[in-house]
Amino acid sequence: MDNRAIGMFDSGCGGLTVLKHYTEIMPNENFIYYGDTAHLPYGDKSPEKIMEYCDEIVKFLINKNVKMIVIACGTASANAYEYLKNKYDIEIRNIIMPTAKSIKEENIGVIATQATIKSNAWEKAIHTFSPNTKITSVACPLFVPIIENGLISNEGTPYFIQEYVKKLSIQENKISSIILGCTHYPLLKEKIQIEVGNNVQLIDIGEYSAKNTLEYLNQNNLSNDTNNIGKIELYSSDDFENFKTNAQKMGLSI
Ligand code: DGL
Repeated sequence: MDNRAIGMFDSGCGGLTVLKHYTEIMPNENFIYYGDTAHLPYGDKSPEKIMEYCDEIVKFLINKNVKMIVIACGTASANAYEYLKNKYDIEIRNIIMPTAKSIKEENIGVIATQATIKSNAWEKAIHTFSPNTKITSVACPLFVPIIENGLISNEGTPYFIQEYVKKLSIQENKISSIILGCTHYPLLKEKIQIEVGNNVQLIDIGEYSAKNTLEYLNQNNLSNDTNNIGKIELYSSDDFENFKTNAQKMGLSI
C-alpha cells in the first residue's frame, strides 16, 4: 500500500479529462496535477522543447513525493516519454500504450496534435499489437486553442471540426473508430460525434489509461488503502485562476 499521490501532467486542462476517469475508478487516490499553461500548446513545439518542458514538470512532481507519474498528454507521451523513462527511476506511464494495446480494428482513425502525428507514435504503438490495422491520421492544430480559449460552443467551431473530419475520409477508409489522440479532444467529443455520425466510435484514451493504472497499482500493491475520498492538488505554470475554473467546470472537486 502506498498512500502518496499520483502525479499527472498536461500542457493545460486537457489532462483533466484523464484525471476525471481516474477519480471515477479510484476515488480514494490522491492526485497532484500540473498544467503547463505557460508553454501551451505543446502541439506546435519541437520534440526537444517538449522534452525540456516535461523534464521540469517531472522534477517538480518528484519533489512533491508522488508515487508514480502519468503523462496525461498525447503530445508529451509521443515526444518525451522515452526520454523521461530513461532519465528517471520513478514509474512513468504514457497515455498512448493502454489504448494502443486494445485496438483490434482493421481500419482506424487517429486525430491528434501536429507534434503527435509527426512522431508516428500511434502507428508504432498500434502496430506492435495489431500489425495489420490500417491507420489514417489527421492533425487538428486548432482544437487545443479553441478549447483553452473557451470557444467550444462558438458557432465557428463545427466548421473546423468538419474540415478536419473530411481529411479522415471516413467512408473511403472504412473507419469504424477514431482515437481522440489528444487529451483535450474529449471536451469536443459531442460535437465531433455529430460530425462523424453515431456509427463511428470515438475512443477516449483517458479511460484506458485509468483502467491500466488501476491494474498496475493493484498488481504492485501500491493502491491507497484509506476509504476517504482522495484530494486533488492543482498547479499550473501560468494563469492559475483560469486553469482552476476550467477544472471546476469539468466537475472535479478542487
Ligand atoms: N492535451 C495535449 C495532448 O494530449 C495537448 C497538446 C497541446 O498542448 O497542444 O496532446
